[in-house]
Amino acid sequence: MRPLQISGKTRVLGVIGHPVEHTSSPAMHNAALQALGLDYVYTAFGVRPEVLGQAIAGMRALQLRGLNVTVPHKVGVMALLDELSPEAQAIGAVNTIDHRQGRLIGHNTDAFGVMESLRLDGGLETLPPRVALLGAGGAARAILYGLLQRPEVEHVALLNRTPEKATTLAVALDPEARRVRPGTLDEWAGDLLGQAGLLINATAIGMYPHPQASPLPDPACLHTGMVVLDIVYNPLETLLLRQARQAGARVVDGLGMLARQGARAFAIWTGVEPPVEVMRAAALERLGKPSI
Ligand code: ATR
Repeated sequence: MRPLQISGKTRVLGVIGHPVEHTSSPAMHNAALQALGLDYVYTAFGVRPEVLGQAIAGMRALQLRGLNVTVPHKVGVMALLDELSPEAQAIGAVNTIDHRQGRLIGHNTDAFGVMESLRLDGGLETLPPRVALLGAGGAARAILYGLLQRPEVEHVALLNRTPEKATTLAVALDPEARRVRPGTLDEWAGDLLGQAGLLINATAIGMYPHPQASPLPDPACLHTGMVVLDIVYNPLETLLLRQARQAGARVVDGLGMLARQGARAFAIWTGVEPPVEVMRAAALERLGKPSI
C-alpha cells in the first residue's frame, strides 16, 4: 500500500460524533483511499451537541469534502443542511453529508448498506415475504425503510422492548398499517418466527460488554430456512448468530452492513466505487485492537 501523502491539494473527509474515539470509519475509509491512490484523508471530529451548528459552518468554511454523521447528531444535523436525499427525508436521519458546489446535501446510506449486505453477504437477491425486525431505534428505522422499498416483502413483524416505540415507527413508515405489525420482543409465540425467512436484530442486545445476551428468549424458533442478520459487530459472532448457525440458518454479521454503508458514502464523495473487502478488513483489524 502507498504511504499516505498529504499535500496542499489533499481533500478532507471525516466523521462527526460524540464520543467518536472508537469509530472504525477512519480505518475503513483511509484503507480504501490508499488502495485506490485517491488524494483525500479521512479523520474523526468529536463534536459536542451544543457546537454542532458551528461544526457545520466550519465544514462550509474549511471546504471539507464530506462528513459522516454519527450518534448523537444524525437527526439534529438535518436542519443545518441545504438539501436532503429522499432516503434521508423518509428515514428522518442523515449519516452522510456531501459538500457539492457550495451546498451541503444530506444522505442516509444505512438502508442501502443493509440491503446490499443481505444481497451480497446473505445471498438474498429477493427478500422473503415475511421478515422479523427487532428494535425500533435509528438503525431499525433505516432498515424498515429499506425493507418497505422492496415489493416482495409482504409483512414485517417489528418487535421492540418498548412496544410504543415500535408502534410509532410502524405508523410513521406504514401509515395504512398494511405491511408492518408492531409488537414486543416476547412475542415469539405462534408461528411468527417459524414463518419468517429473514430475522434482523437492530437492537444493541448482545453487544460488548454484554456478549452473553440474546434478543431471543428462546432460540428454538430459529430454523434452517432462515437468514439471520445481526447489526451488532462487536463481537463479530453474537450469541444470536451462534444460535442461528447451530440451528442451520444462514448468518450475516454486522460488519458487512458497516462496510457497505461506508462504501456508499465513499462513492458519493469520490465518484469511485471502493473495494468493500478492503474496508471490511480494515474495520475488522480496528476491532481487534484494544480500545484506548
Ligand atoms: P440505534 O441508533 O443503534 O438504533 P437507539 O436508537 O438507541 O440506537 O435504539 C436502540 C434499540 O435497541 C432500541 O430498539 C432499544 O429498545 P427500546 O426502544 O425499548 O429502548 C434496543 N435495546 C437496547 N438495549 C436493550 C436491552 N438491554 N434490551 C432490549 N432492547 C434494547
